[in-house]
Amino acid sequence: MDRGTMHNNDLSLENFDIDILDNGRTIKDVIDNKIKELGSVDNEEPFYVADLDSMYKRHVRWLTNLPRVKPFYAVKCNNTAVVLKMMRALDTGFDCASKAEIQMALSLGATPDKIIYAHTTKPMSHIKYACAHGVDVMTFDSEDELLKMSLCHPKAKLLIRIAVDDSKSLIKLNSKFGARLASVGKLLERAGELGSEIIGLSFHVGSGCTAGSVFKQAIADARHVFDMANLLGFQMRLLDIGGGFSAIGDFTGKFEEFSVMINEALDELFPPDCGVQIIAEPGRYYVESAFTLAANVIAKRVNWDDMDKDSDREESPDRMMMYYLNDGVYGSMSCAINDPVHSNLEPYLHRVVDSSERSYRSAIWGPTCDSCDKVTDNYWISELHVGDWLLVDNMGAYSISLYTDFNGFERAHIYTVVIAETWHALNLSQTFGMRK
Ligand SMILES: Cc1ncc(COP(=O)(O)O)c(C=O)c1O
Repeated sequence: MDRGTMHNNDLSLENFDIDILDNGRTIKDVIDNKIKELGSVDNEEPFYVADLDSMYKRHVRWLTNLPRVKPFYAVKCNNTAVVLKMMRALDTGFDCASKAEIQMALSLGATPDKIIYAHTTKPMSHIKYACAHGVDVMTFDSEDELLKMSLCHPKAKLLIRIAVDDSKSLIKLNSKFGARLASVGKLLERAGELGSEIIGLSFHVGSGCTAGSVFKQAIADARHVFDMANLLGFQMRLLDIGGGFSAIGDFTGKFEEFSVMINEALDELFPPDCGVQIIAEPGRYYVESAFTLAANVIAKRVNWDDMDKDSDREESPDRMMMYYLNDGVYGSMSCAINDPVHSNLEPYLHRVVDSSERSYRSAIWGPTCDSCDKVTDNYWISELHVGDWLLVDNMGAYSISLYTDFNGFERAHIYTVVIAETWHALNLSQTFGMRK
């Protein structure tokens, strides 16, 4: 084992800033205090507040609505120690895409049967790592991947990933992953020749799915492939219905709507007594609403370019304000340019604004020297000043895990909050190794 790498991914060594909310204190109080505290030591670095209750509530909602579907949290979506430890406390499985993600899950004490290596294009050394650590369940969608796995992990238990209708999802995955139904028969036969063990099937309808009907069709496609594989002598016993769920903004309520359709399709085509275990790989759903970002206005400029030379520029409501934050698309907010499910970021001012204050058209930029680093424009907000704090809600998914240190700006620190009831109910002092 590469001990150096293992150390980086050993989450058991992490320290946590956890605030147990007592005496009626709220997340807002924590943010107010943190901003005061930072101000008193001249620190304006961006930070997150992570709310463990939000993840817990999403989990309870999952269990209530999809009782037959065991969640394997998609580590890629937010790979921070606090999230992964919380998932461990909630006893989800882990969907890992690489050796490093498998290392993280193992370091938290997840047993190999709680890990699925759900990437169809894997480096050989990562497959060997999975093999050496007993992580057996993995996905494939091509003959070349089958060959690699038969060489590097001959005992692997394989899920064939099929391409399903992703036309109703904001982020489509079919162009890169998934065997077409027409080629599945040949792949299964090839697996038989290689002596590979195929135990099930996976699909992903795409991230930010807008219509539950695609899950229905995908489950029907899966039934068809299960029947083909069973006829060829494989013992199919695991169905993985992937991710794609969200419950914020336009997606509010969609989770319940999709669940009804998924449950109906499962009960019809994979009834409870059919011997098939059902799992899923939710990412966004679990963490999206759990993180609030606080970023500081580090610079400001008025853009006069579009304005009439004769107008009173200082007073004109048409002037374009430009603000520069210390976090941007190369830090926590790449979703502004690459995540259509959450591209419409709406930062709001932390301090209270008098309702009589005028709003100005504003552009909000990140801190780097790149003009792609724009969080939002044509945004109307009252005049900001250097040193003001802006807050952005729902920043848990595909945010901090896509952070870069471009231009030397540091990753936002995470402060975690939880209500005392949840802390005790889930015995989180043990999970987080703290005596509170
Ligand atoms: C293989 C796989 N599983 C799970 C996920 C998580 O999807 P989501 O965040 O939409 O739930 C993804 C996201 O791209 C993925 O590629």
